[in-house]
Amino acid sequence: MSIQWYPGHMAKAKRQIKENIKQIDVVIEIVDARIPEASRNPMVDEMTNSKPRLMLLNKADLADANTTKQWVQFYEAKGFAALPIDAQKGKGINEIPAKVREQAQHLLDKFARQGINPRAIRALILGIPNVGKSTVINRLANKKATKIGDKPGVTKAQQWIKVGKDFDLLDTPGILWPKFDDEKTGFRLALTGAIKEEIFDFEETTLFLLTFLTNNYPEALKQRYNLSELPENTLSLFDKIGEKRGCLMAGGAVNYEKAAEIIFRDFRQGKFGRITLEHPQEQ
Ligand code: G4P
Repeated sequence: MSIQWYPGHMAKAKRQIKENIKQIDVVIEIVDARIPEASRNPMVDEMTNSKPRLMLLNKADLADANTTKQWVQFYEAKGFAALPIDAQKGKGINEIPAKVREQAQHLLDKFARQGINPRAIRALILGIPNVGKSTVINRLANKKATKIGDKPGVTKAQQWIKVGKDFDLLDTPGILWPKFDDEKTGFRLALTGAIKEEIFDFEETTLFLLTFLTNNYPEALKQRYNLSELPENTLSLFDKIGEKRGCLMAGGAVNYEKAAEIIFRDFRQGKFGRITLEHPQEQ
């Protein structure tokens, strides 16, 4: 599902989080491992009152494994727990309950000191649309991977989901948006499919991608387009790829729209390999 802008859903999400946060022990925040910060909602830190946090870096199967390790360290340095997962195939899902327990250890210690039977740990699960929240929930709840989807306009009740006997998960149906005020964030969301095609500029987003790949994954670019060297600047590279792929208009000029579509599709289909579009050093 791609993001559509309905501010009312965001207000609802904020209200639901505020109303529930007191009874929550651990916040599970799902991000896209290819764009961890760009796929966060900027208000989560403030809304969750510094509750213990588990960051799930989902879609790790599509991200650069080395950079994912750096992101895990980045979040751990902030005092969060972090776990790369691939919810589609179920990888890493089994490690979630233990990580949640670790984050709630202070509470379990308190129950032990007081000699009371521990109640189930209560976790709130959050994430912007398309990060894979439904897929993660279905996996955790051991349901068949049917798509729940937070479709704007479809009312879904807030629900508690049992994960084993010692861990309850609260899913709130409100929608959390990513940050839209930063151009790079927009490009990253567009490339990973989080925002609808109608609301971004294909050619500009492609230029961002080509610059990023030139700086970070030059070999992947050379290989994909059979180039022995990369041109000096991104526009020349755009031209070169357009020529190589036969995206020419009458008269021989490059048809950028067509070239952009091809490059974009190559990225979405993983033709450059596993790529992370954002590095922790930028933060
Ligand atoms: P949401 O509830 O957060 O909105 O996300 P949802 O679970 O619906 O997942 C969004 C898309 O991401 C789905 O693809 C889903 O299969 C895919 N996805 C979820 N987790 C992973 C993962 O770990 N790795 C990969 N590669 N993909 C994952 P879709 O049904 O094709 O939707 P769309 O692409 O048409 O948006």
